Amino acid sequence: MFTPYEIRKDFPILRREINGHPLIYFDNNATTLKPIQVINAVKKVYEEYYSNIHRGVHTLSIEATEMFEEALRKIAQFINASIEELIPVYNASQGLNLAALLLTINYLNEGDEVLVSVVEHHSNMLPWRVLSKIKKYKIKYVYPDEEGFITSETVENMITSKTKVLTFTHVSNVTGAINDARKIIRVAKRNGLITVLDIAQSIPHMPIDIKDLEADFAAFSGHKMLGPAGTGGLYIKREFARDMEPVLSGGDTIIDVTLDDIKWADSPWRFHPGTPNIEGFIGLGAAVDYLKRLGLENVRIHEEALMKHTLDKVEEEGLNKYIEIMGTKDLKRRTGTFTFRSSKYSPNVIGAYLDMHGIAVRTGKHCAHPLHYYYGWNEGSVRASYYIYNTKEEIDKMINVLKNFFVSK
Ligand code: ALA
Repeated sequence: MFTPYEIRKDFPILRREINGHPLIYFDNNATTLKPIQVINAVKKVYEEYYSNIHRGVHTLSIEATEMFEEALRKIAQFINASIEELIPVYNASQGLNLAALLLTINYLNEGDEVLVSVVEHHSNMLPWRVLSKIKKYKIKYVYPDEEGFITSETVENMITSKTKVLTFTHVSNVTGAINDARKIIRVAKRNGLITVLDIAQSIPHMPIDIKDLEADFAAFSGHKMLGPAGTGGLYIKREFARDMEPVLSGGDTIIDVTLDDIKWADSPWRFHPGTPNIEGFIGLGAAVDYLKRLGLENVRIHEEALMKHTLDKVEEEGLNKYIEIMGTKDLKRRTGTFTFRSSKYSPNVIGAYLDMHGIAVRTGKHCAHPLHYYYGWNEGSVRASYYIYNTKEEIDKMINVLKNFFVSK
């Protein structure tokens, strides 16, 4: 088991002060900080073997290709997938858009139904809404229970003979609720549905075995798991990856083109036109090495302990008189995501006060407006989200600052 104290030295940005206070970074669901190992891996690409991939016989291009493909293979293995099943994308949003586009063009027809959960980040709701208008299929919303979970029972009750696709998030970016994705997907599969899973908020925090979850498509971002921004993956199960026509095409997506014919390259290249973020994916490979060394089971244990500490402290310090916490109290079903509101002060006022004390949190509706409106949290919320380098002492400081804020007002 690691301790956050021993790994903090790997994160140079943690030496920063903000407004005269040591930085406390609690905005990890938005993006995570980068360890020196990732920074150095990217730097090394520029200094030693930067070139385009799949494009030449010269030494640099061959070296860059090998390093890039090795990184992709490592990232694929991290979720128990093969390189053929992992399409490099810029982030989870692009991956989810691509999944929606591929299924809309290749699979969905007028009159079909797609189940979309209300818990979704906009990136897994808006593409379906936009594309449903073009192909004239129907979106049906799956509502969460009181604690924010999507249940297999709700899904099963909504399936009709017209339902073709189910899409939902493994973990909510707002409440941290961990959906029982395996159980929900089993129900969907039993009814012949294709499933698209958003794993952007689960892959950084717990072991993911995509074969065990049985999702057909799954998307994630590299920047939320210690890697560079502009990297991510769309997992496409082999049988779909082999058969589907690409919807984005261009350089590197083909074996040959004549004016009459196109021979598509094998997956993943057929789905990725243009030069990828070569250095970024090599950096993400280093991030995967870093996380594997810590052990994702240990990351989960660490974050559960931080969340328990938060809920205990809120009670101990009497902070629950001033705030309402969103989501379940069941620590086994929640990531280290502390989301709350006050009946008196807007999230932005609270967030700005925390920033004056060096504490970075996210405020607003976190790209999940329908979820906030569904629960009647129309002003949004304040979200402190934890990661491997966060400590109980940092949480104590946040609770003290919040207490001072509410008591002094
Ligand atoms: N999806 C990111 C968040 O929840 C940006 O903050």
